[in-house]
Amino acid sequence: MCGIVGYVGSRAAMPILMAGLGQLEYRGYDSAGVALQRKGAIDVIKACGRLSALQAALPKRSSATTGIGHTRWATHGEPNERNAHPHTDAAGKLALVHNGIVENAAELRRHLEGKGVTFRSETDSEVLAALISGEFERDGDLLAATQRALVRVVGTYGIALMHEDLPGEIVAARNGSPVIVGVGDHEMFLASDAAALAPYTRQVVYLEDGEVVRLKARSYEVQDFHAIVAERAPATIDIEATLASSGEHAHFTLKEMHEQPQTLARLMSGRLDERFSTAHFGGLNLSAKELMGFKRIKLLGCGSALISADIGARTIERLARIPADAESAAEFRYRNPIIDPDTLYFAVSQSGETYDTLAAVQEVQRKGGTVLGVVNVVGSSIARQCGAGIYLHAGPEVAVVSTKTFASTLAAFTLFALYLGRMRDLSPAEGARVIAALQALPEHVQRLVDRADEFEAVAKRYAGYDRAYFVGRGEGFGLAREGALKLKEISYIHAEAYPASELKHGPLALIDPQTPTFAIVPKDDLVAKNASTIAEIRTRKGPVVAICHEGALDETVEDRIEVPALHPAVDPILLLIPLQFIAYHAALARGCDVDKPRNLAKSVTVE
Ligand code: F6R
Repeated sequence: MCGIVGYVGSRAAMPILMAGLGQLEYRGYDSAGVALQRKGAIDVIKACGRLSALQAALPKRSSATTGIGHTRWATHGEPNERNAHPHTDAAGKLALVHNGIVENAAELRRHLEGKGVTFRSETDSEVLAALISGEFERDGDLLAATQRALVRVVGTYGIALMHEDLPGEIVAARNGSPVIVGVGDHEMFLASDAAALAPYTRQVVYLEDGEVVRLKARSYEVQDFHAIVAERAPATIDIEATLASSGEHAHFTLKEMHEQPQTLARLMSGRLDERFSTAHFGGLNLSAKELMGFKRIKLLGCGSALISADIGARTIERLARIPADAESAAEFRYRNPIIDPDTLYFAVSQSGETYDTLAAVQEVQRKGGTVLGVVNVVGSSIARQCGAGIYLHAGPEVAVVSTKTFASTLAAFTLFALYLGRMRDLSPAEGARVIAALQALPEHVQRLVDRADEFEAVAKRYAGYDRAYFVGRGEGFGLAREGALKLKEISYIHAEAYPASELKHGPLALIDPQTPTFAIVPKDDLVAKNASTIAEIRTRKGPVVAICHEGALDETVEDRIEVPALHPAVDPILLLIPLQFIAYHAALARGCDVDKPRNLAKSVTVE
């Protein structure tokens, strides 16, 4: 959700900013801009649309050695050049980029207008620029002006700014949206994602909420909003710097789907214990005794992370026989939840930056609860806030829709369920069966990935429809939700997921020859029930695509994708793969931008 970059040093800033924005474009792609500071002047260049439009608008060369840049996901004000960042104050001397939402922007705007300020954009960000500029006039200190202004601001933000009177200086601040300083050799970098810093330095300082930093080529100075100095030594990050290319694959989405056999193997690496038929985690920071003390498990997340949490909760209940459920982190945080000390909470987030999930973590902690993260991005806000949990180690996920991290999250919960189950009453024999299935999983996922042509053919047959149902029972309903979400996100086909058991309580009214249904049918106790649902749909002339276990379904269907069954605790991962490929190929067939679907962004750092 908006990407911020900054550079101050002796190199040309423009290419560094553009490379950083290239890495961050997944965070927003409505418009982009840079502010470049030559000695004594700030040039602001912006363009509506993708980064390539900004690239075309830039001068061939710029001697600027200080600059900030931004790639936008619109919140206040439609995506156009006027609303693009950086925003400046009225004199054009202060330039600012902002990620987040200022909740009292209207009130601040009215106040500033009363003092004679005129605004050119509809953004809350321009209000911030004007507010800080007003404070700057008092003493010419950009850090102090930012501190004084921000105590009046309500909302979430990561900001970076610079002023014409202060060449070679950038000030940045954080409240809820990530800001990371990269410490170089006589140069400093700034980004909202550590991956954008990786090509230049591994030494980083994560700003905490309520902190401001002043960057100069040779120094960084961190303070809170009340000028209390925070001594912050850089941490060393270990991160891949490979965001920029999808390699041999046409899209990042496809690349990431193809990576799944490896990312699943990486998730399990060193975590399976065949001797005791259990799993190990390095970072839970809870003793066996503490874990045994929990009476319930609650998983929190948003979007696909929530869906993976829901399937994960069922797997935990299945193997560990402890009550577990999942809830939208956004709903949870606002309902004044009762935090039970006997409940173990998990926050599930690929990016580790989803604001609602972070806020849910803070709500649990504030009320004395224990919360672990299941996160992909190392060092992200949620990972740091939880301080313990399970890293997915899936590598950077660049495509906006989550694919490989969804699969890895399911596997992470299977491992956790195995671990907890083996402490409770899961037998060694059953534990060994789960381990065997997990070990076989990457190879079976590879075989499914190799069947991509078959899934593409199915996708093409249904790409012309305007709507679709996805149905299933149990974990199958979770997969139906994920299949529907993927399809709607990237192909824009209206897709609705429903528990198969609920279809006849209403949605059956909409079944007709123009409404295909994707039915998830594992070979389990409910297979006969699913067969009946399919019969009811086909009686209403609705086409059915069954994604089912081999030999599970005798029913005639329009299309059938058969998937092997390994063990109920890992089978959802196998049933997932065809759903991902169907969404991807349907989107391609409809000419959609698969990696960057309209209106979306990878990291949702606003409420
Ligand atoms: C869907 C998707 C989103 C994310 C959601 C949470 O394909 O990617 O629904 O799952 O925005 O994101 P994270 O996992 O980063 O918290």
